[in-house]
Amino acid sequence: MNVAGSEHVIFKSSPIQGMGGFARADISAGTRVIEYVGEIITKQESLACCEQNNEYIFAIDDARDLDGNVDWNPARFLNHSCEPNCEAQFIEGHIWLVAIREIRAGEEITFNYSYDLEDYREHPCRCGAKSCVGYIVAEEFFEHVRRQGGSRVKAENL
Ligand SMILES: C[S@@+](CC[C@H](N)C(=O)[O-])C[C@H]1O[C@@H](n2cnc3c(N)ncnc32)[C@H](O)[C@@H]1O
Ligand SMILES: [Zn+2]
Repeated sequence: MNVAGSEHVIFKSSPIQGMGGFARADISAGTRVIEYVGEIITKQESLACCEQNNEYIFAIDDARDLDGNVDWNPARFLNHSCEPNCEAQFIEGHIWLVAIREIRAGEEITFNYSYDLEDYREHPCRCGAKSCVGYIVAEEFFEHVRRQGGSRVKAENL
């Protein structure tokens, strides 16, 4: 698949899974790397999307979500990592993936999907980071997952 890149990111096959985004050149910490765009939907519409396993939903506020599963949102191809180099930030009404450290040219652009613990075993992580917890979960759940043997399961997944 050919996905149009952006100023900082090119899209190609990823060692993590499927397609991923990669830094075109060195990126300094704090840079807005790519905007996560999509359709603004109500929480009710969002619930229907989630029932169909739409993994591209971002919460905007108490009433609205953003559905990033649209052709014009290349950021939907960014993969999750347990040691990400970006984080999603809500800035002036827009969702940006912002660099949380310096990123080297060619490095895969990743962020933590911040999934909760619901059915987390259905989302094994293959980010390849040294500290990978084995599943795609928010950082606040890393310890819980490790206590459940997350890294042991990680080894089985490799
Ligand atoms: C939002 S898409 C990311 C783009 C995806 N690589 C693609 O080609 O469509 C989310 C899906 O990518 C995969 N994925 C993303 N990060 C992953 C990771 N760290 N380990 C395993 N699979 C991952 C999972 O299949 C997940 O359901
Ligand atoms: Zn991981």
